[in-house]
This record gives sequence, C-alpha cells and structure tokens, in this order.
Amino acid sequence: MSSHPAVEITRSDASRKASPARLPRRAGAGFKPQHADAILADAFRIGFLEVHAENYMGAGGQPHRILTRMREDFPLSIHGVGLSIGSATGLDPEHLARLKTVVDRYQPEQVSEHLAWSTHDSHFLNDLLPVPYDTETLDRVCDHIDQVQEALGRRMLLENPSTYLGFEASTMSETDFIRAIARRTGCGLLLDINNVYVSATNHGYGARDYLADFPLFCVEEIHLAGHSEDMDDAGLPLLIDSHDRPVDDLVWDLYDHVIGKLGPLPTLIEWDNEVPDWPVLKREAQRADAILDRHAIVSLGRRHAS
Ligand SMILES: [Fe+2]
Repeated sequence: MSSHPAVEITRSDASRKASPARLPRRAGAGFKPQHADAILADAFRIGFLEVHAENYMGAGGQPHRILTRMREDFPLSIHGVGLSIGSATGLDPEHLARLKTVVDRYQPEQVSEHLAWSTHDSHFLNDLLPVPYDTETLDRVCDHIDQVQEALGRRMLLENPSTYLGFEASTMSETDFIRAIARRTGCGLLLDINNVYVSATNHGYGARDYLADFPLFCVEEIHLAGHSEDMDDAGLPLLIDSHDRPVDDLVWDLYDHVIGKLGPLPTLIEWDNEVPDWPVLKREAQRADAILDRHAIVSLGRRHAS
C-alpha cells in the first residue's frame, strides 16, 4: 500500500532511536505519593513505577521531591493523558513543551500516550475520547506522533483505547488503524488488556479475536486495570474503564494468553481511583509477576529443548 508515501519518507530519525534504557520485564505499579514510604520500606521491590506526566508539570514542590527520591531506586515510565494525540486542531505546543520538560528531568525508561483526544479549541475535556478510524484521522494522528517523537528525541508508545461507542465514519478496524500508525511512525505500542476487554464487551466482539488481529510484535508494555459494570439503555452490559478495583479474572486470563504468546513484558497495574493501601496494589503486581515468571520458565525450557 502506500497512499501516504510522504509520511514514510519523512519519518523522523527520533522515531528509530531506542529509549535510553528499557523497563524490566516485570510488574510495575502506578505510583501514588501516599505509597512512597511503604514502597521504599518494602522488602519486595516493585519492577518499575509509572506516573501521569500531567501530575508533574509544575516546576517544583512536594510531588517532584517525592518522585526524585523514588527515581533513585526504581525504573520509571511516564504516561501522558493530556496530549490529545487525536485532536482535530493540532497538538498544543505548550503542553508538548511541558511534557518534554518532565521527560528531560526524569529521563524515564519509557514514555507513552493514549490514542484519544481530550482538547478541542483550547478547551480541555476531562475524558479520553475516541477517534474515528479513517484515513484523514490516520494522517493526523501519525503527524502528531511524528511531532511528539521529534520533540522528545525518542520513541513513544501509543496505548489502545477503551471505547463505548463506534463512529459511523470509521472505514477500518481499530487494529488496522493502530498497525498503520506503528508502521508509519515507528512508535511502539502499549497494550492495555483491560481496555481490550472493556471495548470488546461494549461492542459485542471477542477480545481474543481482537488480540489475534492486534500487531502484538510492536507491544513493549502492558497495562492491567479494574473496570466497573453498568448497563446501557437496551439493558446490555456496559463496562467502564474505572481503574478503581482489582483486575478482573477474565482480564487475567487474557493477560496469561498474551504473555504466553509474547513472553514476559513490562506490565503495569493501574489503579487511579479508590486507591487502596500499598499491600493491595502489591498483591496485584505479584500476581502479574507470577504469570511473567511462569512464562519466562516455559520460554527458557523451549529454548533449551530446541
Ligand atoms: Fe491503560
């Protein structure tokens, strides 16, 4: 195919650069400052921490003091939720500059953002909204990712969204859309398996079918999170990506399936609302570590047998 050869040719060198170092192929946790002392005192060492970039865009103060201390001991992933990669009106250069400042300051092992939009005409909406999957949006999203990778001087990961409604205007599947983005921009992918399950349930397709068509070879990090259950107007199940409870057993099964195919990958437990005490979050991370360890042993066994 190449209905968009210009983008292929002008892909930035930054997109081909490796990140400074890699996250360990272990479980990590979304970092909340109230857990700092417990994490530092714990004999169990979490594999890495992930923070939302937007929480560290101020110049100084307590948040930076705490994160600077944590950074001394732990690999770090910086996850943006406000860049609005899918925005129809272009990236906000000031927001991108603030993101760059945070990335330069902490030199994280990984940087990621959502395939979503949350700003329109300089209004910031408090939600991550989906984009239509058509060629116009594909061009725009690729252009924005090129800009981000160029500005940061490094590759980023793009996260698959959780969605509740589809667009009439979509002309391709979400997996084809994401595959085309990865191919054209050179970005890596962050596979949020809870998002896959939430979207599959809400749209009535199979999560395993989606995963079978997803460009798994581009995945460099995984997200796991809890969701809540509601009902739509027709009385059908509607799942909300609420990040306020443990990971669902069916999402753990999908995770086991993906790690069985890909081998161990850095895996984040996201828990952003109704945040529990550290031991509860740690238990979720240890459950992920157990799955990673089991598949690491299986892949090692396969290598020795071949
Ligand atoms: Fe996520």
